Amino acid sequence: MLKARIAVFVSGGGTNLQALLDAEKAGKLPSGEIALVVSNKAGVYALERASAAGVESAVIPKKELGQAEFEKQLVALLEEKQIDLIVLAGFLCILSQEFVKRYPRRIINIHPSLIPAFCGDGYYGLRVHEEALKKGVKVTGATVHFVNEITDGGEILFQKAVEIPDGIDAPALQKLVMEQAEWLLLPMAAEKVSRQIIEDRS
Ligand code: GAR
Repeated sequence: MLKARIAVFVSGGGTNLQALLDAEKAGKLPSGEIALVVSNKAGVYALERASAAGVESAVIPKKELGQAEFEKQLVALLEEKQIDLIVLAGFLCILSQEFVKRYPRRIINIHPSLIPAFCGDGYYGLRVHEEALKKGVKVTGATVHFVNEITDGGEILFQKAVEIPDGIDAPALQKLVMEQAEWLLLPMAAEKVSRQIIEDRS
């Protein structure tokens, strides 16, 4: 059975990428194969994780290229590598409507809150946790969803709640949400959608 070929898009440290690589190695991603890692920035640690795992990677520098050229190069690369599924794993760029429309139900994203709380334009990375603490919510979590034209607005695949301990700061909360939710949910979602892709083929 041919596996779904997965491209993981990253912008930074890549702990969610690592969770996917570890899941694949542990046999927890039987329907998918991580075939490519793409970063919009050179020098990020996620690229080292890809190379340590023997996965091909590419840098397409969005800042230097601008949105249109960035996406043109991205589409060409995804076609060349015959990618079936795109996983946004700490990818902190917004993709255009044109790009997103090319891949209906073929792009998933991990977001570090319980959508619809603390999401949408401007809510990414540490900022999400800072806002949750500012609001004083007692429960947060993570969400994996399909990507559509609305930022963080696509159909939800998985969510997991995390209780917020008293007195925790934003960096510690970010780590807690990763450990208790993100690193579990993203591989589960990648497997679920990969399996669907394979089933749709046959
Ligand atoms: C993760 O917490 C991820 O959920 C978040 O950025 C972090 C990346 O960490 N993504 C977003 O905020 C997207 N809106 P990582 O590079 O270690 O996986």
